[in-house]
Amino acid sequence: MSESFDVVIIGAGPGGYNAAIRAGQLGLKTAIIEKRDNKKLGGTCLNVGCIPSKALLHASQLYEIAEKDFAGLGIKTSGVSLDLPQMLKQKDDAVDALTNGVEFLMKKNKVTTFLGAGEIIAPGKVRVTGEKTVELEAKNIVIATGSEVTPLPGVEIDETQIVSSTGALALPKVPKHLVVIGGGVIGLELGSVWRRVGAKVTVVEFLDRILPTMDGEVSKQFQRILKKQGVDFKLSSKVTGAKKNKSNVKLTVEPAAGGEVETITADAVLVAIGRRPHTDKLGLETVGVKTDKRGFILTDHFKTNVDGVWAVGDCIHGPMLAHKAEDDAVACIELIAGKAGHVNYETVPNVVYTYPEVASVGKTEEQLKEEGVSYKTGKFPFMANSRAKTNHETDGFVKVLADAETDRVLGVHIVGVEAGELIAEAVSVMEFGGASEDIARTCHAHPTRSEAVRQAAMAVEGWTMQA
Ligand code: FAD
Ligand code: NAI
Repeated sequence: MSESFDVVIIGAGPGGYNAAIRAGQLGLKTAIIEKRDNKKLGGTCLNVGCIPSKALLHASQLYEIAEKDFAGLGIKTSGVSLDLPQMLKQKDDAVDALTNGVEFLMKKNKVTTFLGAGEIIAPGKVRVTGEKTVELEAKNIVIATGSEVTPLPGVEIDETQIVSSTGALALPKVPKHLVVIGGGVIGLELGSVWRRVGAKVTVVEFLDRILPTMDGEVSKQFQRILKKQGVDFKLSSKVTGAKKNKSNVKLTVEPAAGGEVETITADAVLVAIGRRPHTDKLGLETVGVKTDKRGFILTDHFKTNVDGVWAVGDCIHGPMLAHKAEDDAVACIELIAGKAGHVNYETVPNVVYTYPEVASVGKTEEQLKEEGVSYKTGKFPFMANSRAKTNHETDGFVKVLADAETDRVLGVHIVGVEAGELIAEAVSVMEFGGASEDIARTCHAHPTRSEAVRQAAMAVEGWTMQA
């Protein structure tokens, strides 16, 4: 006989496991299904995404600081050298600790875990195919199956010489030359990791700028900073093919608009041109759940067109970010439980965890211009911030965009060390519908980088003070 649940969740990433926790907290009888080969919960984010990438970003950054900056700070070291196996191991340890933590949270919230592939076989029925096959009855099904790497025709990923982000998190040796295809967030984060530990890195980007969805001024200045660090860029360029031999890969590259073809030789190639929803083999057609052409499940407040079937996270529209998936999940379960779940997509922050970091929330200048909104701008460079100066970390700036009439904050964009932490203040202010003057008149501790956020807000009205 099949077991029945109030909620059956397919996929145990940030969308799925946060949905499960909230459902458990609200007293709903809940099951979660996960099909990863390693039998671990946590999804892309914990296993091969946010967590391992940040563990490598942190360690490689410290390595570079020890190698290049310690002497200038008056710290003498001898023989700083790379122990790559240990760097990779500490990354795996962080992943293990966190994925085990999710397993614990499922138990704590009385969620039943099923390992195997979930498929909707009829309304209210899900089959799990794993070591055993079981069928579950569900009053509500939440699809949280996430996303997968977008392939690039002609550049086939083998996870050894031509890797996706997953392979790039575990290269067994530092490549002499890493070519990154795609100047988006994965390319720049993982490109930074391997550059810091000794690779020459070339980024090939189809468009005329990196981080194309970010504010234009941010992209420009950030590219300059990365260039200074030694990253090479080939913008407005496309890779049209790859030929592998034992020791390297020869890539054919040409201008995006067509033109002269050149060959670039790489020891490793990272394909990072985006991710696509992971929604095949789920039985969506069986019950008639609608998707768009690219496979994203169509939802209205997480409800699909089929009663009792809901979807959250990377497999629906919106930014493909762990914290967005988490917020979707909580709101979706609250709606299932008859409460008022809601997500404000205008205030989802976006952070690139490079050195320095890039962080943004709300509208870019390009978006405001396109929407015909009149706005005021306040900017402040970290070069003039005392803490940044003290720490010799002066690259970057804060930019605050506020409505020209009401002063309401519409967007905040930061390039700078710890930008990912600084953006939280802007998110809170925007969530409360605050004005740039609210930030400007709020006391900020001295000396901190957060003063640069305040100064940028002051600059909106032209009364910056700090020198
Ligand atoms: P996922 O995390 O993809 O989880 C979906 C799960 O569903 C997977 O485990 C999958 O195996 C499972 N599944 C799929 N189909 C089935 C099925 N039929 N049956 C059972 N299980 C199934 N975001 C950030 O916010 N910050 C970051 O720093 C960040 N860094 C990233 C770094 C990298 C290298 C990558 C690749 C992504 C990163 N992301 C980051 C994005 C983040 O990982 C995703 O936005 C987030 O994981 C989405 O959560 P999700 O639950 O929707 O999907
Ligand atoms: P992305 O969308 O961020 O960047 C892809 C880049 O590739 C774009 O600049 C695009 O113009 C370019 N591109 C597309 N086709 C190309 C081609 N044929 N040749 C050359 N360039 C091409 O995607 P990415 O970096 O793969 O990351 C996927 C998603 O994962 C991100 O959008 C983000 O949602 C999530 N992520 C988030 C992180 C974070 O929050 N720090 C870290 C890593 C991933």
